[in-house]
Amino acid sequence: MLTEGLVVVHECLGEEEQMLRRLVLKGPIAKTAKAGQFVAVQVQDSSIPSFDPLLRRPISLAEISPDQDEITLLYRVQGRGTKILARARCGERLSVMGPLGKGFSLPEVGELWLVAGGIGIFPLYALAQSALAQGLIVRLFWGGENESFLKSAGLRTWQALGISIYPSTLDGTLGDKGLVTEQVQGRLSQLFGQTKQANHSSTGQISVATCGPKKMMQAVTELCMNFAVPVQVSLEERMGCAVGACLGCVCTLIDEAGTLSHRKVCQDGPVFRGEEVVWNVSC
Ligand SMILES: Cc1cc2nc3c(=O)[nH]c(=O)nc-3n(C[C@H](O)[C@H](O)[C@H](O)COP(=O)(O)OP(=O)(O)OC[C@H]3O[C@@H](n4cnc5c(N)ncnc54)[C@H](O)[C@@H]3O)c2cc1C
Ligand code: FES
Repeated sequence: MLTEGLVVVHECLGEEEQMLRRLVLKGPIAKTAKAGQFVAVQVQDSSIPSFDPLLRRPISLAEISPDQDEITLLYRVQGRGTKILARARCGERLSVMGPLGKGFSLPEVGELWLVAGGIGIFPLYALAQSALAQGLIVRLFWGGENESFLKSAGLRTWQALGISIYPSTLDGTLGDKGLVTEQVQGRLSQLFGQTKQANHSSTGQISVATCGPKKMMQAVTELCMNFAVPVQVSLEERMGCAVGACLGCVCTLIDEAGTLSHRKVCQDGPVFRGEEVVWNVSC
């Protein structure tokens, strides 16, 4: 759906140096959106009529509030497009396409473990809210560079959910020092022993959803496969059209019979089953 989003909040998230922003848009997208989906936002400067930059920028739905007709986007200012977006003011209307793609599926019962690397945390908040509303136990494993990043990117908001949080930082300033995957591995081993290919009946109550750097999601997928834990991954490819027309975001999947196929991250994803993703090809 191509629509307009009225900017109702647009503010710096946490410390300025982290370059994170929170953008709340009012519009009809919230009525049908699901956790894991995204929108493609036009980032042209409204004061200078032009088609530059031509391509919209994909941003995940961090929060979906259908009662208020609001979606929240959390983003990092990375380059030209997000720099232009960062200038949008309250009261402005942005051209937004969405909700796009296929989001996360919730397990019916049990525990949902969220594993986030850096700003990969952003699409997981809406998922946590849906999971908690459904009565699931939610645990968050979140790795970032340092304490300042985790606090800026919303640690307190997550803590307010009352879930178990296992933070890690590369410099050890908050939580465990090291990679988030070490925390996940430690917890899985603690619960099920070191044995690879754990009996599925013992791990059947846990499923994992992950978003972050590709290498991290690959490692999380491998760990989950070792413990027979189902895992969903949210891929982030550079996108062109964002609606399945340009083939700019193709990834490779493999099925149980070993047959390879190509899928569009914007339309068939961004969420896939981890075990079906072929990680070592450039998508
Ligand atoms: C489905 C999806 C959901 C996303 N959700 C979010 C989100 O919730 N919050 C957020 O901050 N970002 C998100 N991104 C990434 C965001 O789209 C890019 O950061 C943005 O498009 C960069 O645009 P730019 O013009 O500012 O930067 P550019 O000038 O285009 O690029 C600046 C830098 O960002 C890198 N980059 C650009 N696009 C991507 C991309 N798609 N994935 C990874 N790196 C990229 C480039 O390689 C370059 O190093 C998402 C991407 C996808 C595909
Ligand atoms: S971005 Fe064009 S097909 Fe996915």
